Amino acid sequence: MNVYDSERMADVLAPLGYALSDSAEGADLVVLNTCHIREKAAEKVYSELGRLKVMKREKAEGGGGDMTIAVAGCVAQAEGAEIMRRAPVVDLVIGPQAYHQLPELIARTSRAKGERLAADFAAEEKFDALPADRGVSGPTAFLTVQEGCDKFCSFCVVPYTRGAEYSRPTASVIAEAEVLAAKGVREVTLLGQNVNAYDGPGPEGDAWSLARLVRRLAEIEGLDRIRYTTSHPRDMRDDLIAAHAEVEALMPYLHLPVQAGSDRILKAMNRAHTADSYLRLVERLRAARPDLALSGDFIVGFPGETEADFEATLDLVRAAGYASAFSFKYSRRPGTPAAAMPGQVDEAVKTDRLARLQALLDEQRHAFDRSQVGRTLPVLFEKLGRRPGQAIGRSPYLQSVWVEGAADHIGAILPVHIEATGPNSLTGALRATAASPEAA
Ligand code: 5AD
Ligand code: SF4
Repeated sequence: MNVYDSERMADVLAPLGYALSDSAEGADLVVLNTCHIREKAAEKVYSELGRLKVMKREKAEGGGGDMTIAVAGCVAQAEGAEIMRRAPVVDLVIGPQAYHQLPELIARTSRAKGERLAADFAAEEKFDALPADRGVSGPTAFLTVQEGCDKFCSFCVVPYTRGAEYSRPTASVIAEAEVLAAKGVREVTLLGQNVNAYDGPGPEGDAWSLARLVRRLAEIEGLDRIRYTTSHPRDMRDDLIAAHAEVEALMPYLHLPVQAGSDRILKAMNRAHTADSYLRLVERLRAARPDLALSGDFIVGFPGETEADFEATLDLVRAAGYASAFSFKYSRRPGTPAAAMPGQVDEAVKTDRLARLQALLDEQRHAFDRSQVGRTLPVLFEKLGRRPGQAIGRSPYLQSVWVEGAADHIGAILPVHIEATGPNSLTGALRATAASPEAA
């Protein structure tokens, strides 16, 4: 979502004459869009600010004028006052629901230093204020449809930094998707911290589910692929499962975090599901869409996690089978209930468990990748590769696919015969189609 937000910040600033630059060096304005989810991400902000301080001085000394430095995103939201105190180089701090006010704030900071805008959670106002036009960079795009979270998993800062669950009205989502499609976007990923809890107001005032929104977006000419992320198992409703069976544009890939496999830990995490209810849900999804590739998030070393609890996570991974996954050591976040729980786990134990979990998840990912060798998959070509003529695209299962002689096909979806697997990608060759016989 920070990628989406950063793109929208660029859209908001474009009318003021700002354009994106490749590097921060010499820039008139630098916006650090930050993440607060784990301690490491939050700490990075201060080291980046150290680097920017040097660049700002060099720019001024070289006669290049001032560099305005803004910190945006969830670290700004949670620690705005501290940032201002610890890093005087920062001109303004702006939370994730206030970035539509960047132009006004930038104009103000040139007069009075030290502006801070955060904590209002007015998601609705923000989306209303964002420009209808969008810059796009290639045939895939993100589109935020939902923000915030009411789930309060005991380890997580999101409900405090992004605020309560909010769904954008369907009309504004559809309008944005139409702009994207008109600009050549073929694949859109609908975003939300709890995207499957989407219940945005439709044109008649009735609430639409995510499934209904997906069906409507699938009707837009040119939008051939739809994905959504991130989902909570609790909000995986029947109509969305049915959409996986019926909507061709809905890709057979689902990011459905489970976090842990021990019911005791899931309860302490306030996840409101068990390992078994999650596995049954996965079964129902696969009944609807047999080739569904599953992805997940995992946390090891949650307070009180024993070796047996951790092994239950490994068991769940074996039972569910993941095509990709993200796994993390539990990070103690100030203000969350889990931070105060007894039984905080030693760093060395977390390191060991993370390595064991990742070994299993990697094995599953490679097995999934290998299972595609010999098949022909539709690949959406996104960008050029390193070698002349080479292009990189995505399979329906979100795998990167490298193809020689495909450089002329950026933006096209073409059948690719998968030939081999690499550490993080597949390689393949174009198959001839009636539409593009030269691709043989
Ligand atoms: N420690 C480690 N991982 C976390 N996540 C969220 N909060 C924490 C935390 N305190 C992970 C979860 C979530 C993903 C976005 O980040 O797995 O699904
Ligand atoms: Fe955080 Fe996701 Fe839990 Fe919400 S559902 S509290 S965003 S982990």
